[in-house]
Amino acid sequence: MLTRAKADCLLTVSHVKGQDSFPVCQIVTICFFKIGCCQHSFVMELLTFLWIFILLSLVVGFALFLLYADADLTLLFYHSLNRPRDFRNKVVWITGASSGIGEYLAYALVKSGAKLALSGVNVERLTAVGERCKEISKCRAENILLVPFQINDFEVHDECVEKVLDHFSQIDILVNNAGISQRADFADIDIAVDQQLFNVNVFGTVNLTRKVLRHFLERKKGHVVVTSSTAGKLGAPYSSAYTGSKHALHGYFECLRSEMVEENIDVTMVCPGPVFSNLTDRCVTGKVGEKYGHKQQPTDKKMSTERCCDLMATAIAYKLDECWICIQPILFMYYMAQYCPTVFRKLVVKLIFNRQRVMKMRQGR
Ligand SMILES: NC(=O)c1ccc[n+]([C@@H]2O[C@H](COP(=O)([O-])OP(=O)(O)OC[C@H]3O[C@@H](n4cnc5c(N)ncnc54)[C@H](OP(=O)(O)O)[C@@H]3O)[C@@H](O)[C@H]2O)c1
Repeated sequence: MLTRAKADCLLTVSHVKGQDSFPVCQIVTICFFKIGCCQHSFVMELLTFLWIFILLSLVVGFALFLLYADADLTLLFYHSLNRPRDFRNKVVWITGASSGIGEYLAYALVKSGAKLALSGVNVERLTAVGERCKEISKCRAENILLVPFQINDFEVHDECVEKVLDHFSQIDILVNNAGISQRADFADIDIAVDQQLFNVNVFGTVNLTRKVLRHFLERKKGHVVVTSSTAGKLGAPYSSAYTGSKHALHGYFECLRSEMVEENIDVTMVCPGPVFSNLTDRCVTGKVGEKYGHKQQPTDKKMSTERCCDLMATAIAYKLDECWICIQPILFMYYMAQYCPTVFRKLVVKLIFNRQRVMKMRQGR
């Protein structure tokens, strides 16, 4: 490319050499210069166009993300492949299957051919879920096993594992989904409530996983799925015991994942945002035995349980390490907190998170 400086230089050289072919030399030089300029401006225009294109794509991509994304981009990518999820001949044990996310996950998996062991406390509800599974999939009755138990009753865990293995002879996937939630100011929480939350959400899950892990290690394969929460990644205000318990799950199961790299055992952490379920209805407070008792409304801004479990089934099928399933703008907050932690904490939390707004958001209003 010929710049003005180079053109000037050429002219100077031709004069110094005393060439008298000035007009020819000058015309050639000017031609070179013009071609150079043209090339230069062409490249500049191309670059400008490229920049505008990239910028516009980013703006459009961001707008589409804010409008339509209801899960992290990896999960959405796998989900958009729309491939059939094959759980045929897979035995999946789901805890917390008597309502909400566990219930709808059972429906999603049984449709894809899974054999199910379903656990919960409420036997009546659990039986109804089992019957619905049979209805949906037209599977044989023995493909659905009910294993009701209290997850915080650690003594019965061995017996429950035996029951599932006696029936199916194998467990392929353990979905640790049972859990309870909580609403209370940090300062007002009785330590017994923290213990209750940890016994159900963390120690019950961890102890049951250890029991099933022996079987996975013998078979040299297995998949542990854990229903965490947005609260497992961010601090959910006025739910510190719940948030603590969900963060603890990440600690335990990240370790498990790293210990199992040579054992062909996978771990999937599922982090849903607000989803329609009975969770808030029976949410506890800071006082032992007290219920928060918030009734959800059909108009609440929450994800449908079907959609959440459809995405969750994809995450399980592809053995994703971690997935976020969440409506906007909470999904955007997830991304901010993960990738711009300082901006998120110093700006977003301080500017947006006043008590009234947070409560409204958490109640899906
Ligand atoms: N819904 C949401 O917005 C949301 C968001 C993020 C994460 N999550 C997580 O998703 C999981 C499922 O909750 P959900 O929303 O589906 O709520 P849900 O409808 O209340 O379901 C909770 C399930 O856990 C079981 N459970 C509770 N305490 C138990 C105990 N001590 N022993 C054994 N099972 C017990 C319940 O069994 P019984 O009904 O038989 O008592 C029920 O099947 C929880 O881990 C929750 O933290 C939910």
